[in-house]
Amino acid sequence: MSKRAGVFITVEGIDGSGKSTQARRLAAVLGARLTREPGGSPGAEEIRKLLVEGAATRWSPETEILLFSAARRDHVEKTILPALAEGAIVVSDRFADSTRVYQGAARAALRGKVDLLHAAMIGLEPDLTFVIDMDPAQALKRGLARGHEEDRFESLGLAFQQALRAGFLALADEFPQRVRVIDGNRSVDAVAADVAGIAETFVRTALHG
Ligand code: ADP
Ligand code: TYD
Repeated sequence: MSKRAGVFITVEGIDGSGKSTQARRLAAVLGARLTREPGGSPGAEEIRKLLVEGAATRWSPETEILLFSAARRDHVEKTILPALAEGAIVVSDRFADSTRVYQGAARAALRGKVDLLHAAMIGLEPDLTFVIDMDPAQALKRGLARGHEEDRFESLGLAFQQALRAGFLALADEFPQRVRVIDGNRSVDAVAADVAGIAETFVRTALHG
């Protein structure tokens, strides 16, 4: 990826881990643009509806990879790259690591295909990624307590969340230079303080050497 003026930070984790809360807090602290996946651009938000609503079996894992990748391509083209080119800090609530874990490992062993599509169509990696790690039983309770319409993945249950957690921790081993694992099983403020401390140091170095 060519050198860019801004800094691209992602926040990842299992459903209900508190990652959206942390992404919001981090963007506020850094004065960053906050965005999310699936979604983050008008076209990608339309694709999001196809992905998060309906029965868990609505799409095959292969079709899911294509839909998430189509949404991501639009998000990268329309939102992320233009902001980075302006020198902005971009914080995204989920990005490609979610596809590596959900479609590449936990839901189906399709990591090879995920990587091929990523290389061909996306080609962008975050500068820094936070994995908000927490006990899946606790996270699932938080997620289900919200009781909203977008429950297609949450309806897959505890065993699936455990596989997801293992997948995110494996990514931290695979990409140790950019992934930081944060213990999410604490108060919002305690988690946010850790995340902000690491991110502020990183951004200072990245933008000012
Ligand atoms: P995610 O984006 O990972 O699904 P959210 O940030 O939406 O998670 O949080 C899920 C629910 O848990 C929300 O109701 C949120 O207010 C609550 N929550 C988030 N972080 C914490 C925390 N550290 N402790 C307790 N509750 C939390
Ligand atoms: P999200 O809105 O982040 O849900 P939550 O706040 O409940 O974690 O994401 C919607 C669902 O889409 C979520 O269950 C994770 C899933 N997902 C994938 O399976 N692959 C992907 O590439 C992405 C970005 C999300």
